[in-house]
Amino acid sequence: MTPATGQSTRGEVSPRVLVVTYALDPTADYVLRELNTRQVPFWRTDLADFPTRSTLHAELRPDGQWAGTWQSETRGVDLSELRAVWWRKPTTFEFPDIMSGPERRFAVTQAKQAMTVLGSLPGVLWVNRPQANADCTKPVQLAAAVESGLHVPATLITNDPAAVASFAQRCGGRIVTKVLGGIVHTEDGKRGQLYTRRVPPEQFDDPRIALTAHLFQREITDKAYEIRVAVVDGQLFPAAIHAPDAAARLDWRQDSRSLTYQPTTLPGHIEDGIREMMRRLSLVYAALDFIVDRKGAHHLVDVNPGGQWAWIEPTRDALTHAIADLLQKGQTV
Ligand SMILES: Nc1ncnc2c1ncn2[C@@H]1O[C@H](COP(=O)(O)OP(=O)(O)O)[C@@H](O)[C@H]1O
Ligand SMILES: [Mg+2]
Repeated sequence: MTPATGQSTRGEVSPRVLVVTYALDPTADYVLRELNTRQVPFWRTDLADFPTRSTLHAELRPDGQWAGTWQSETRGVDLSELRAVWWRKPTTFEFPDIMSGPERRFAVTQAKQAMTVLGSLPGVLWVNRPQANADCTKPVQLAAAVESGLHVPATLITNDPAAVASFAQRCGGRIVTKVLGGIVHTEDGKRGQLYTRRVPPEQFDDPRIALTAHLFQREITDKAYEIRVAVVDGQLFPAAIHAPDAAARLDWRQDSRSLTYQPTTLPGHIEDGIREMMRRLSLVYAALDFIVDRKGAHHLVDVNPGGQWAWIEPTRDALTHAIADLLQKGQTV
């Protein structure tokens, strides 16, 4: 699959849609093919293209607005025309090899600050604002979920080994741990993923817990199935994820080939809670992970502001259309 680039629509109309994501993002490709079909011009770029393959000109006008362009050799956006930004999963700025470490660090800060020009433009719909994505950490999202009336398993964040045993006791002895940041981990040149893991009692007071912060959570032991809900501007697209065998039970990503997906529905109070949580987190889009237990209770475990959905076939078309609609409409002023 080649990434949709927007090269099919040329020149005369300045794109009003900017898409910032990594080159091989499959989720973006679905929506961008749809925008191509609708003949909605867009410019897709990645932060890795800046500054070597894209150029920013932004000049402060007397009325206080930034005007100018951000463009590659073939395409770009006029800042005054911009109506929607789909800020998905960009990688980071890339600089020429000749620059030293300190020069690069300086250059990253310069580039990052300069890009906030985009955030200051009026009349632009953001899906999502980069700052809202950055703010959506596990501690922040779980608190917002509870404040919005959603159920979150009991959670402890600590670097104190002595605190874990008593927390586990309050959780009926069954706790899991999962990473606070991204699950991709590289060590000795090998790339791996850090899945959700049970913590056996003999590890409750592991002295290594003191080496940094860890997140512990009550294990939902009577898991029936999981639901991934993609949210687009208040519209909800829930898909049930069924894992038939034990290997996929604790963390469904460990055996993704055995999973089956079905469209599903959510109880009204969960829908209300989701919309309230999205509002509190200032997110237009997110993919949420719920565990449904055998009694039918929904436990929120994760909010992914850049979450993928393209591999979940039952909701793919509806999501493609909903996001394309949103970007096509842009900010209505
Ligand atoms: N408290 C929990 N009890 C049981 N399983 C859990 C719990 N939290 C997460 N999981 C499982 O681990 C997997 C990933 O969970 P998630 O919270 O989305 O972690 P991550 O932040 O690493 O993406 C899912 O399959 C989920 O069901
Ligand atoms: Mg997750």
